[in-house]
Amino acid sequence: MKIKTILAIIAIIILPNTHTMAQNTLAKATKGKFLFGVAVNMQQVNGVNPIESELIAKEFSAIVPENCMKPQPIHPEEKRYEWTDADKVVAFGEKNKLVVTGHCLIWHSQIGRWFFVDSAGKDVAPEVLKERMRQHIHTVVGRYKGRIKGWDVVNEAFEDNGTFRKSKFYQILGKDFIKYAFQFAHEADPKAELYYNDYNVETPAKCEAIVGLVKELKAAGCRIDAVGSQAHWHMDSPTIDAIETSFKNLKAAGVKILITEWDISILPSPYSGANISQNFRYSKEMDPYREAVPDSVQKEWNKRVLDMFGLYLKYNDVVDRVTVWGLTDNGTWLNNFPIRGRKDYPLLFDRNNKRKSVVDEMITMAKKYKSKN
Ligand code: G3I
Repeated sequence: MKIKTILAIIAIIILPNTHTMAQNTLAKATKGKFLFGVAVNMQQVNGVNPIESELIAKEFSAIVPENCMKPQPIHPEEKRYEWTDADKVVAFGEKNKLVVTGHCLIWHSQIGRWFFVDSAGKDVAPEVLKERMRQHIHTVVGRYKGRIKGWDVVNEAFEDNGTFRKSKFYQILGKDFIKYAFQFAHEADPKAELYYNDYNVETPAKCEAIVGLVKELKAAGCRIDAVGSQAHWHMDSPTIDAIETSFKNLKAAGVKILITEWDISILPSPYSGANISQNFRYSKEMDPYREAVPDSVQKEWNKRVLDMFGLYLKYNDVVDRVTVWGLTDNGTWLNNFPIRGRKDYPLLFDRNNKRKSVVDEMITMAKKYKSKN
């Protein structure tokens, strides 16, 4: 009797707590404030590692494919589209009630060379490129009409100093390629949200250029719902003040803000952008945490996470989604960028698929903010 009573008391104390723990996810804590998303790869979507697939379904409220909807993988040749992976991502999102974003329609990187040249290998005329863009965007956006909440329509059109990147799109069509992309995407799915997405958005000159673009697009009657700040950030840069200033400027321009590819590299970096053509030589000094991250460094990283997350919450009237660029430290692109073969720790789940302790603090923080709807 006595033991039974004690067990019953223990159950009364413990069970509700374990239940609450099971309910405690970032998806739930941020509900009504912003979506909390993750970039997914095909192993996760295909269930090759079911633990990862389940974590995605449970801990997040949104997904974006890390690679398979980019121009090259989805449209490798003019007359050939590869739908298998992208179809699976959209179905995975629907099955698990996760909001799906499309990434990305027009990008200078990961795009087939065929897009820009004729059969003789010469640059095509502006009208030809414009028509290829129209076909590409109409076909891809049209296929998922009504099933994808919004698209990264144009990715990385500016240099950090605010000038236009001299991509093939820019060289052949001038800056109007951006306007065309937004027009075509809107024609293909009038209800889809449309985003401009870039890295180093908090760099003043780049932010000013992006604000200028937003104004121009709006003046031309184009739909643009949000600017995506990729947020591939570091331990010491950018400052929280710089990020906040960019939020204020974007908010004043009348667009929503999305944190689209959030990760915080814990490693020293010779470079602070996300231009994947940048690469530097490996050295042991640049890869200091092969065995483990020292406590003091981990604490600093946690503080960075919380400072940034606090800012997203403070601006949750305009921040509509926060997406981390990958699930676990094992799968992060940063293990190979900008130096190949390092061991980075930039994400919210560790190499054993274990949620990092900072997530509990993020959840507590998020719960202090009221839902905006
Ligand atoms: O799919 C091929 C595979 O068939 C081949 O065997 C293998 C050999 O290298 O490459 C595979 O493709 C790789 C692809 O990721 C899928 O894993 C590419 O080489 C590799 O370059 C590509 O890297 C991606 C990178 O974009 C370039 O597109 C990263 O995973 C992805 O995280 C990264 O994401 C970008 C965002 O889209 C835009 N913002 C910057 C961000 C980080 O660079």
